Amino acid sequence: MPNSNTSAAYKIIDHDYDVVVVGAGGAGLRATMGAAEQGLKTANITKVFPTRSHTVAAQGGIAASLGNMGPDHWTWHMYDTVKGSDWLGDQDAIEYMVREAPAAVYELEHAGVPFSRTSEGKIYQRPFGGMMQNMGEGPPAQRTCAAADRTGHAMLHALYQQSLKYDADFFIEYFALDLIMEGGECRGVIALCMDDGSVHRFRSQAVVLATGGYGRTYFSATSAHTCTGDGGGMVLRAGLPMQDMEFVQFHPTGIYGAGVLITEGARGEGGYLTNSEGERFMERYAPSAKDLASRDVVSRSMAMEIREGRGVGKDKDHIFLHLDHLDPKVLAERLPGISETGKIFAGVDLTRQPLPVVPTVHYNMGGIPTNYHGEVVTLKDGDPDAVVPGLFAVGEAACVSVHGANRLGSNSLIDLVVFGRAAGHRLGEVIDRAAKHRPLPKGSEEMALGRLDRYRHAKGGSPTAEVRLAMQKTMQADCAVFRTEKTLAEGMARIDQIYQRLDDIDVTDRSLIWNTDLIETLELDNMLPQAVVTMHSAANRKESRGAHMHEDYPDRDDKNWMKHTAAWFDKGKVSIDYRPVHDYTLTDDIAYIKPKARVY
Ligand code: FUM
Repeated sequence: MPNSNTSAAYKIIDHDYDVVVVGAGGAGLRATMGAAEQGLKTANITKVFPTRSHTVAAQGGIAASLGNMGPDHWTWHMYDTVKGSDWLGDQDAIEYMVREAPAAVYELEHAGVPFSRTSEGKIYQRPFGGMMQNMGEGPPAQRTCAAADRTGHAMLHALYQQSLKYDADFFIEYFALDLIMEGGECRGVIALCMDDGSVHRFRSQAVVLATGGYGRTYFSATSAHTCTGDGGGMVLRAGLPMQDMEFVQFHPTGIYGAGVLITEGARGEGGYLTNSEGERFMERYAPSAKDLASRDVVSRSMAMEIREGRGVGKDKDHIFLHLDHLDPKVLAERLPGISETGKIFAGVDLTRQPLPVVPTVHYNMGGIPTNYHGEVVTLKDGDPDAVVPGLFAVGEAACVSVHGANRLGSNSLIDLVVFGRAAGHRLGEVIDRAAKHRPLPKGSEEMALGRLDRYRHAKGGSPTAEVRLAMQKTMQADCAVFRTEKTLAEGMARIDQIYQRLDDIDVTDRSLIWNTDLIETLELDNMLPQAVVTMHSAANRKESRGAHMHEDYPDRDDKNWMKHTAAWFDKGKVSIDYRPVHDYTLTDDIAYIKPKARVY
């Protein structure tokens, strides 16, 4: 693909850093801050201004067993997370996360996050789905620490300020093109400055991918338009695998028609769902947790109601969320953001009318495989936990795996800060500050520039927006809440064919400066392989677990499928292997939580 003269056509600017973090959402900023705090020369490359990263959209809160509103314990948080994951989560990583969670939240408080308060001045915590007391027995635990319904927004601002305080350098509105790999080791990254079209070669001792999820592979998603899984695209091109990509979370309450998130905190504060008969149907599906069952269970129940003709609206294709029975003061104080969102995107006054909602793609449980230090692992047969030197991944881009087959709401914000912080610590341990930078391999920029060049001059018959729409519609139709052999087989054939259209892509403008069509094409080139891998991984898993509901195999099958999917992608072909789920915890303080039936 690369033409040997390609690099001569571009102005290349070189940089040397100890650490380069790609992405400035919660995980990227926490890793940036952690590395810089330890005196490592740290750069952050981000395609949007840091406080516009998608973490800004996180609403309901961040889980930690502070026990401010009633009894709580980290072992209870651990049990709920393992059960929420449908036993696919690695329990060593889960133990690490839930034990570190309270300290991570206090650290955010000290960094300036304006948490909502109890009357005694403690951090306010609300109930969230699947969070219980007493090792799943109940009653519900109020574990989700909230800054009204703008928790992610508050966190992002505090973390950006901290990163600046520790003197990290930010390269804002730079688009990362590709990793620089040498002999299985990551040596840096190549990026395009979208403002002036210059190409930047970052030589570093470590690269941290914090590029978020790839929700935009679907037609209707709560994810920002920027959620194009750029890190996952780079990893697959580097010949490394992605893990558990079949597990795509649908949030029960996206606004019908708009896809905008209405926080689970709405149900945490007392909201409930009804069907066309006015029935609170969750009582039938989850008699104990009801509307606060885990997301996969609630989304499936809603889809069942719609499928059986009890959806609301003209086309009977959505569900109502009621908040109109709540004291308007609760809405104003605890849920001001969604009150506004409901008005703007659905024309609904939440104090008087129910909100039309529908399960909407929200989160990728799968991602770049890592250990609990944030180091990327190879998943290679025989030594799946072997580390890729110089490469880290954190946040939604990564798969640690703490969320397994289904993530509990408010466990993503805690994942971001706990593992962003863990990566910062690990970087401090493994990077030799005194070491001189080794020369980069000759032609280290060729793969990135070859791709850039190819798309910049692409003059085929398929406009990027058309191919992207075809991908999104296929994922939405064939890899949805419910899956069957038929939908997945058709989905594989369709998505494989759509991938081939990258060879026929048409980019309208050759400029390197603010060329949105070119950037969207590069994003599409990151998304499409992940869409293909997701569809193939789903078709391969012959059981139902968490968010992967396969109607031809409706039961969880621990005997044959208690394993993580590892998927590689090469020139349109997917190869799949499996690695065992960690059947051990981190310490002797808690025993491995054995699988059992998952009822809420
Ligand atoms: O519902 C929400 O507020 C989303 C939270 C999450 O995905 O963790």
